[in-house]
Amino acid sequence: MQKKKIGIIGVGNMGEAILRGLHQKGMAKGIVVSEIRPDRGDYIKKNYGVEAIPDNQKLASQVQIIILAVKPQELKGVLQAIAPALDASTLLISIAAGASLGAIASILAKDVRLVRAMPNIAALALESATALSPGGGASAEDMEVAQEIFNAMGKTVVIPEALMDAVTGMSGSGPAYVCLFIEALADGGVRMGLPRKDALEMAIQTVLGTARLLSEQGEHPAHLKDRVASPGGTTIAGIASLEAKGFRGAVMEAVAAATQRSKELAKIPG
Ligand SMILES: NC(=O)c1ccc[n+]([C@@H]2O[C@H](COP(=O)([O-])OP(=O)(O)OC[C@H]3O[C@@H](n4cnc5c(N)ncnc54)[C@H](OP(=O)(O)O)[C@@H]3O)[C@@H](O)[C@H]2O)c1
Repeated sequence: MQKKKIGIIGVGNMGEAILRGLHQKGMAKGIVVSEIRPDRGDYIKKNYGVEAIPDNQKLASQVQIIILAVKPQELKGVLQAIAPALDASTLLISIAAGASLGAIASILAKDVRLVRAMPNIAALALESATALSPGGGASAEDMEVAQEIFNAMGKTVVIPEALMDAVTGMSGSGPAYVCLFIEALADGGVRMGLPRKDALEMAIQTVLGTARLLSEQGEHPAHLKDRVASPGGTTIAGIASLEAKGFRGAVMEAVAAATQRSKELAKIPG
């Protein structure tokens, strides 16, 4: 990958998170981004030392790897604009939610190596859970390159594209579910008399610390839960209440509902 030049089209929330991840890992050398707004171009250059090119086709003709990070409604126009500059040596990675590999390939109407990626908002903290799916033309080496890029802003898994809606419903929408849990945990603390500010800080730290413990020690959550819940103690009393209210079933239903909605919405607008 070191020898390949990367171009990022669309440096908003996600595009900048990708750029920041690569920059922090010392992998940003030679990256170019497309940016039509001069003030934003100056900001990108100042903070990441990369060149901003105000022309997508020109960018596409200069790089070997293109990361498409524009909104889904801009995707068709961008694909049509860059198509003439692409050939079989180009690796195209799209993060557009709902845009299938088949739909992208049919707009390009030519052989390009394609990878579809689904990060989540935690990319802004370089802690994304990103799923990657190879298109027909993508090689094993292309997938390694895609993993290297997205590992710079979190963790990656490789899955068949048929599971992308499930990823959208789970880790894509997941940060919102976790926010609901954190908010409810803090509300519970406030209800029991804790100051709001302290309750929220403690709730966030509780989720962060538990996630880090599971991630770093590789312990199964059920096992950690068992270790925390002593016989006849406080935690098992809380767990029994959550179970009585169907907490786990509610979370599983949320993932199923969001997956179904993702299937309904999947298409490239325009
Ligand atoms: N945000 C998430 O949590 C998330 C999660 C997974 C996947 N995604 C996907 O990530 C993609 C980007 O989302 P985002 O939240 O980063 O959106 P965003 O903040 O709106 O970023 C999109 C960027 O693309 C720029 N842009 C628009 N048209 C362009 C064009 N023709 N050429 C070059 N740049 C152009 C926009 O510039 P202007 O502001 O000047 O218009 C903006 O900076 C979407 O396809 C979304 O589905 C997002």
